[in-house]
Amino acid sequence: MSLAPNLAPVSPLLGTWRGEGSGYYPTIDDFSYTEEVTFTDVGKPFLLYVQRTWGPDGSPMHTETGYLRVVGPGAVEFVLSQPTGQAELAEGTLTAEGDTLVIELEARVLNTATAKHVENTRRTYRLAGDTLTTAFDMAAVGQEMTRHLDSRMRRA
Ligand code: HEM
Repeated sequence: MSLAPNLAPVSPLLGTWRGEGSGYYPTIDDFSYTEEVTFTDVGKPFLLYVQRTWGPDGSPMHTETGYLRVVGPGAVEFVLSQPTGQAELAEGTLTAEGDTLVIELEARVLNTATAKHVENTRRTYRLAGDTLTTAFDMAAVGQEMTRHLDSRMRRA
């Protein structure tokens, strides 16, 4: 099965990534987590994304799924669903900085009636060699756009 041509720029993401992360937000206690992310080619012009996280004692924490599409030169869309009642409609850019691939996204967010309210999110994925670094900011629960997550993973 050959990769859809539009996905060539994101092909270095294919596979499984595993590593550690740190979490914070003005309204909660700091925390740490282990993260595993997979980007899978299903034979269509998007990558399937599945993320799982665990606390330091191995208990499950956050998980999310999504679809990543390259929609034009340097342009990406990432639609994500959150078990906590949010849907992120993320759009942004894909750039190469030397041998580093950088994806920067800003999302409009839809919330269910019972979800903690998330206004907007920002995500950065930075892939350098076998290291994938992520950052996640959100404007949520009445707070300005503020960092919630940082993680660093290696190819598993
Ligand atoms: C690595 C992934 C993530 C982990 C490990 C994580 C973990 C946590 C933890 C431990 C808390 C505090 C306890 C709680 O309210 O459950 C929290 C709060 C929260 N998280 Fe996350 N989270 C992740 C991703 C996300 C994402 C993607 C969003 C939004 C789309 C999000 C939105 C929130 C909100 C709105 C709160 C509530 C803050 C408050 O109650 O003041 N989180 N998260």
